[in-house]
Amino acid sequence: MSSILPPASRVWWKEPVEKIELVWIGIALVWALILFFMMPYWHVFGKQNLSNEAYRISPERYLAKAQAMVDQYTVRQETDQNIPVAHPPAGSDVYLVARLWSWWPILELENGKSYRLHLSSLDYQHGFSLQPENINAQVVPGYEMVITVTPNKAGNYSVVCNEYCGIGHHQMVGRIYVK
Ligand code: CUA
Repeated sequence: MSSILPPASRVWWKEPVEKIELVWIGIALVWALILFFMMPYWHVFGKQNLSNEAYRISPERYLAKAQAMVDQYTVRQETDQNIPVAHPPAGSDVYLVARLWSWWPILELENGKSYRLHLSSLDYQHGFSLQPENINAQVVPGYEMVITVTPNKAGNYSVVCNEYCGIGHHQMVGRIYVK
């Protein structure tokens, strides 16, 4: 029988539910509830969930704040593009600018200290992906994401753009140093 034909019995919807069907409905319900309560549970007890704040900000104003940090705390320049390396004091607000196709500046942070990491884009949507830790956040123009971070392992980290943003997307790689 196909659904094009009318059902054989006109009161098909009044048949008692098969036991095996009830069992599957029960299993699906229990699983759905487990997944539902995992969301708040994992937010509190999971190790990789970001409690971020988001604020509206214009790209110009965001760039001005990042520029102020770079002007004050640049300790040296690196790479053939002379990207500034900023080493702001522990506990302060640190800024990372995303734009076609770079992360700016390079941040140098201290191990075991907390920072308020600000992320925003000046043009299109980018994706912040900290490697090899695999911490991810969306970076959207017009909004400033603020994440409180406490690096717990010294090393050199890469910031990879993981949101496709055009022809230079694969070159959009930045750095964060933890000392
Ligand atoms: Cu920025 Cu992809």
